[in-house]
Amino acid sequence: MMLEQVTKVHDESRQGEAFAPQPAVDQTYHKKFYIESYGCQMNFNDSEIVASIMNQEGFGATRNYEEADLILLNTCSIREKAEQTVRKRLQEFRKLKQSNPGMLVGVLGCMAERLKAKLLEEEKLVDLVVGPDAYRTLPALVEEAETGQKAVNVLLSREETYADINPIRLDSNGVTAFVSIMRGCNNMCTSCLVPFTRGWDRCRDPYSVIQEAAALFNNGYREVTLLGQNVDSYYWVGVSPESAQEETITFASLLEKVAQINPLLRVRFSTSHPKDITDEVLHTMAKYENICNYIHLPVQSGSTRVLQLMNRTYTREWYMKKVTRIREILPDCGLSTDIITGFCTETEEDHQDTMSMMEFAKYDLAYMFFYSERPGTLAARRYQDDVPEDVKKRRLAQVVELHRRQALESMQKDLGKTFKVLVEGTSKRSENDLFGRNDQNKVIVFPRGNYEKGQYVQVKVVDCTAATLIGKVV
Ligand code: 5AD
Ligand code: SF4
Repeated sequence: MMLEQVTKVHDESRQGEAFAPQPAVDQTYHKKFYIESYGCQMNFNDSEIVASIMNQEGFGATRNYEEADLILLNTCSIREKAEQTVRKRLQEFRKLKQSNPGMLVGVLGCMAERLKAKLLEEEKLVDLVVGPDAYRTLPALVEEAETGQKAVNVLLSREETYADINPIRLDSNGVTAFVSIMRGCNNMCTSCLVPFTRGWDRCRDPYSVIQEAAALFNNGYREVTLLGQNVDSYYWVGVSPESAQEETITFASLLEKVAQINPLLRVRFSTSHPKDITDEVLHTMAKYENICNYIHLPVQSGSTRVLQLMNRTYTREWYMKKVTRIREILPDCGLSTDIITGFCTETEEDHQDTMSMMEFAKYDLAYMFFYSERPGTLAARRYQDDVPEDVKKRRLAQVVELHRRQALESMQKDLGKTFKVLVEGTSKRSENDLFGRNDQNKVIVFPRGNYEKGQYVQVKVVDCTAATLIGKVV
């Protein structure tokens, strides 16, 4: 399951509102569209695919929604709160539409699939509803909507990967970019809507992935993050354009091929499922200096009983063995996780198992949520959402508090160490400082000197907070 992103590309803390403002308008376009993204990194990357499709139809991107002919919200359904935020935003745009009746409003992404009829008919909030696998039909749907009809396409596909579409990088820092390698998910975690909103998993042609990553490198980018809901299940059989031989490509071999593009191109990936990540992947990470030592390995719960109800298909012990294996093969690997508190039937003892799992794994970063029942999921159909809200929230607060302590300890361990940092841009807090990330994905801020984004610099850590390392170039 993909990490939900609340990221602005320039945001050094990677926390904030889920926006993707657009590059300046190219005057050759005859119409303007505005797009806002919510949810995971995959969704942000989808917005870049949508931008590319709309550019070809003569729609240029604008950062100012008031001048847009078309407003698109690329939405997330993962928790109820995410949907509420989008609904509020849609109400605001409906008001705007009263003074500008020609303007169209469209909902894309996971809510499109889930709420199509409701958004269009009952609430009359939007003109267009387009699901994650139907973006190629967006231009035709816009035309349809322009004639006053309600336009919908939420069909899911078993093949669509948008492999041939060259994403337009929205709000790019010119240094780091996302590259999707697969879409959808087959895992059927019982809490999760993704298999229903994004469909069955399918892998993108690896040669198009390599081509896209190489083109990014040639355009000055220095880091790619390979994206999928479950990257370790990547699998492709095809004919190599180089050797003309049939070859089987696993996630480990894809990772290797991308790493070989250039040693100056850093490679990251997300998300790994504990049941699928292999030693082969870990050894490939160890072999290439430019594959970053950082793994996002969502645990969800530390209790085997709860994991079983979640259909995670691993036990507490299996997860612990994976963590041990990661530490053996990659001793300095950064590790992050997702945790849900208060899943159906969770007892105090289960909760303590989650807390002790955190003590064991010593996560550098954790994304923590209380359980939010989503209509249509297996959990909603099979189990009762029986943990009272105050208990869910109290357990969440305990998990957050423990994590805050562990994150600070993790940062303090780096005091005095020197890291190779890829500079991503100017620090949010001071024009005089730059920020970048180390191999383990920790953010480091340091005095600007004569350095520029896109460069690698050696930075020695002199201070820290729970979220940021503070250093100086050595
Ligand atoms: N309620 C709360 N959190 C959820 N997640 C997935 N489904 C739910 C839900 N119904 C969390 C998981 C996942 C992350 C992206 O969101 O921890 O890994
Ligand atoms: Fe991403 Fe959709 Fe999941 Fe939200 S619901 S995190 S947008 S896949």
